[in-house]
Amino acid sequence: MSDCFIGLMSGTSTDGVDAALLEFIPAARLLNTCFLPYPQLLREALLNFAGGNYAGDAIDQLGALDNELGELFAEAALAVLAKTRLSRADIAAIGSHGQTVRHRPAGEHPFTLQISDPNVIAARTGITTVADFRRRDVALGGQGAPLVPAFHNAVFADRKETRAVVNIGGIANMTLLPAESGVVSGFDTGPGNLLMDAWSRAHLQQPHDKNGAFAASGTVNAVLLQALLTDEYFQRQPPKSTGREHFGEMWLAERLRGRNLAPADVMATLCELTAHSIADAITSHAPHATRVLLCGGGAHNTHLLKCLAANLPHRTVTTTKDFGIHPDWVEAAAFAWLARETLAGRPGNLPAVTGARQPTMLGAIYSA
Ligand SMILES: Nc1ncnc2c1ncn2[C@@H]1O[C@H](COP(=O)(O)OP(=O)(O)O)[C@@H](O)[C@H]1O
Ligand SMILES: [Mg+2]
Repeated sequence: MSDCFIGLMSGTSTDGVDAALLEFIPAARLLNTCFLPYPQLLREALLNFAGGNYAGDAIDQLGALDNELGELFAEAALAVLAKTRLSRADIAAIGSHGQTVRHRPAGEHPFTLQISDPNVIAARTGITTVADFRRRDVALGGQGAPLVPAFHNAVFADRKETRAVVNIGGIANMTLLPAESGVVSGFDTGPGNLLMDAWSRAHLQQPHDKNGAFAASGTVNAVLLQALLTDEYFQRQPPKSTGREHFGEMWLAERLRGRNLAPADVMATLCELTAHSIADAITSHAPHATRVLLCGGGAHNTHLLKCLAANLPHRTVTTTKDFGIHPDWVEAAAFAWLARETLAGRPGNLPAVTGARQPTMLGAIYSA
């Protein structure tokens, strides 16, 4: 049996599908990658749907989006495969995260919902597909998130150096990898790019503030920053995870009401909010981490990186590129790895991270 897997991921940014093809020999080696952006109309439909902002029948829309995303995810898997000399028979499985449309791991009826029909992915690709990774953890009382820390531990841990890995997607999450064999921990730190992206759509008519140029042109508003940081989420102890349903456009609009600020200053403040909340998470929960490895699309935001470095003196801040996996592909690679764990019958969650009652195998297997 080959040890090649494809990971498919679309995160809270709702920007498109990241596909990563890995070989495990047994160390993870990235063979090829492909990014399939969501067509504009699909992206808008997803953002509206996930935000509860739609007219018509919700079940019809959910079913249609689930199918459309299944087709797109399958296309991404076939596209990354086509970049290699491998054939579908060489791929042991696809691990598909899908697209989160709602994440409510607390409450009377906790749930998290990722769509992109794995039946369609398995049927179109002819490759066994593992999907629905988060819900078993939620069924065991966990957050179902973040799930990447076990992969971070498998590929970025070091015996001699305590490290923190920070994935800056729409939401940002942090993994603490202690030197020697301490307990791996991690949680969502709060907004990564999603508030900056929303502000960029509204004021720059661009999907994101490229390299943080607009943020860099403004000045941080200390009063607004403090107001944003008073949100209860930042003080809450882990395990914790969050999403668009909390840190969405409404959250920002409510906190901007009655303030008359220049758009560039708001962007500068949102960028500082991301940097400050990540740095806070590291200083409170990973004080011994001497090296911080960044990944996710936010690692391209040069202004954000400057703000992070300023908030994290005396620590080395680099990206995962220096450690074998380019920052754009770490999360997709994690779902390839998680699919491999599932096929091997091994648990994929870390109860110290998610709060689940026990380690468990994740996902369901849709055979080729
Ligand atoms: N050059 C760049 N400058 C600023 N931000 C960027 C750049 N490239 C990517 N990003 C940010 O990264 C996001 C995508 O990151 P990604 O890791 O795919 O997040 P997610 O996992 O939530 O989909 C974009 O929405 C954007 O905010
Ligand atoms: Mg993405």
